Amino acid sequence: MSPDQIAEFRRSMGRFATGITVVTTKLDGIDHAMTANSFTSVSLDPLLVLVCVERETRFHEAVIETGTWGVSVLAADQRRHALWFATRGRPLEGQFMQVPHVAGPRTGAALLVGAVTTMECRTSTSWQAGDHDVLLGEVLELGPVDLQADPLLYWSSEYRTVGPEVPSFRSGTSDDRSGIST
Ligand SMILES: Cc1cc2nc3c(=O)[nH]c(=O)nc-3n(C[C@H](O)[C@H](O)[C@H](O)COP(=O)(O)O)c2cc1C
Repeated sequence: MSPDQIAEFRRSMGRFATGITVVTTKLDGIDHAMTANSFTSVSLDPLLVLVCVERETRFHEAVIETGTWGVSVLAADQRRHALWFATRGRPLEGQFMQVPHVAGPRTGAALLVGAVTTMECRTSTSWQAGDHDVLLGEVLELGPVDLQADPLLYWSSEYRTVGPEVPSFRSGTSDDRSGIST
């Protein structure tokens, strides 16, 4: 891939709005973490989610070894945590000192206090995909959901939160592009 193609791809994918998570794992008493927006749900039966982890990250080495991980879906007021856990080269020891968290009951992975929701997972399969590994995770435990908290979103290289709801389409109008007949 040429640098131009990569930049173009980044620009395109940057228009795809996502939530923001911090994925975590605990290895030999050390909490590892990484900001990730590649998190998505995969299956309801069984409960499966996935996250893509760049093989060059420190988190990659740790999570491949433990095979278990936590996910904290960040709230709008947790932007500083997203920035921190995306900072390459930050110290591993003490990286959670300013970040309120609890240890997940099933995996010991750090779960951020104040997150919209959390979950704990065990890697059921992983495979190499270019410079990332895709980790498919079986959900072991779901944390509480804060229905009041606004989520932290990422769009066009910026952190955002939700805006007004899109008005619902009235069937038969020019707005109705769903193609679904009611
Ligand atoms: C908004 C945002 C989303 C990110 N999503 C991912 C992701 O899904 N997978 C990934 O491997 N890195 C992702 N990163 C980069 C990692 O957060 C970054 O490389 C981090 O420093 C890795 O931590 P570590 O070196 O301690 O493992 C993202 C960064 C940002 C700012």
